[in-house]
Amino acid sequence: MKEKIEAIRAAIGSEIGQTGSRKELFELKMRYLGKTGEISALSKGMRDLPPEERPEAGKLVGDVRKWAEELFASREEELKAKELSERVQKERIDVTMPARFSPAGAAHPVSLVRAELVDIFGGMGFDVYEGPEIERDYYNFQALNIPADHPARDMQDTFFVSGEYLLRSQTSSGQIRVMETKKPPIKVLSPGRVYRSDSDATHSPMFHQMEGLVVDKNITLCDLKGILDEFARRMFTAETKTRLRPSYFPFTEPSVEVDLSCHNCGGKGCRICKGTGWIEVLGAGMVNRRVLENCGIDPDVYTGFAFGIGLERIAMIKYGIGDIRLLFENDVRFLKQFRG
Ligand code: DAH
Repeated sequence: MKEKIEAIRAAIGSEIGQTGSRKELFELKMRYLGKTGEISALSKGMRDLPPEERPEAGKLVGDVRKWAEELFASREEELKAKELSERVQKERIDVTMPARFSPAGAAHPVSLVRAELVDIFGGMGFDVYEGPEIERDYYNFQALNIPADHPARDMQDTFFVSGEYLLRSQTSSGQIRVMETKKPPIKVLSPGRVYRSDSDATHSPMFHQMEGLVVDKNITLCDLKGILDEFARRMFTAETKTRLRPSYFPFTEPSVEVDLSCHNCGGKGCRICKGTGWIEVLGAGMVNRRVLENCGIDPDVYTGFAFGIGLERIAMIKYGIGDIRLLFENDVRFLKQFRG
């Protein structure tokens, strides 16, 4: 028995130093102190000893167990400290290292304007309808009271696709599509891309418009003016005023051109308003009765107004952008100015 115990002591003493992790240590511990381990086997072997030898053997076994338990516990502490310091070493962070730069995106100014318009008019009860960009001549022109060969077609230099299809030159086509399917009361916005063969510092072959349409009983030009006043105040400043000037569009009668008092100089005249105090922002008018008729709405019962806003134009005015092409070049030095 004594020799056996000495052999176990020696074995543990040499093996324990070779354990490199707490897992290995645990496995070793089980081999000696586990239920079926070698020290436990010694306790069980006591039964086979003559009774007079048992007390001494019992003490020896007890001693070796206590010794082993303490040894394992202190090795466990050692390994714990070693593993911790290895982990700290591995996960070390150099706080003086320069930060990794991750560029944040920014909404495009046209998207900002679009979102703001939807917010402003949405708050006044307008729904949003988006029509197709490849449009039929009927929706883009004919139903809007612009028959084939009408001189008003020259106002919009159109890209024709084939047959009766074209790239819509105005979001006014959305008016017809809405009125065809929905009966008054109607209060809808129709934002989207439009196309015209036109390109210079203030014109782009693709740009964005937002159409507004309201049709109900007793709608008048005053309602139009009221809604546009609210739009002007919310989009620019609380002092911004609107001014309506007579104009012509085939789909409205009367038609107006809408100016806003210059948000930059307050109307005194500056670079932005070219010294006039006013900035032209959109076209509008009372929906022509022929257009209502084309959509099966009785013009003797219902009236309506419509307006069409150019989003690039609003962005240029609002952010003081001098050339429309900046909006499409996607130069990040330009775009990042709209962050936050
Ligand atoms: N569609 C016109 C354009 O592109 C803008 C416009 C003018 C829209 C008057 C309207 C309106 O709804 O009533 O030039």
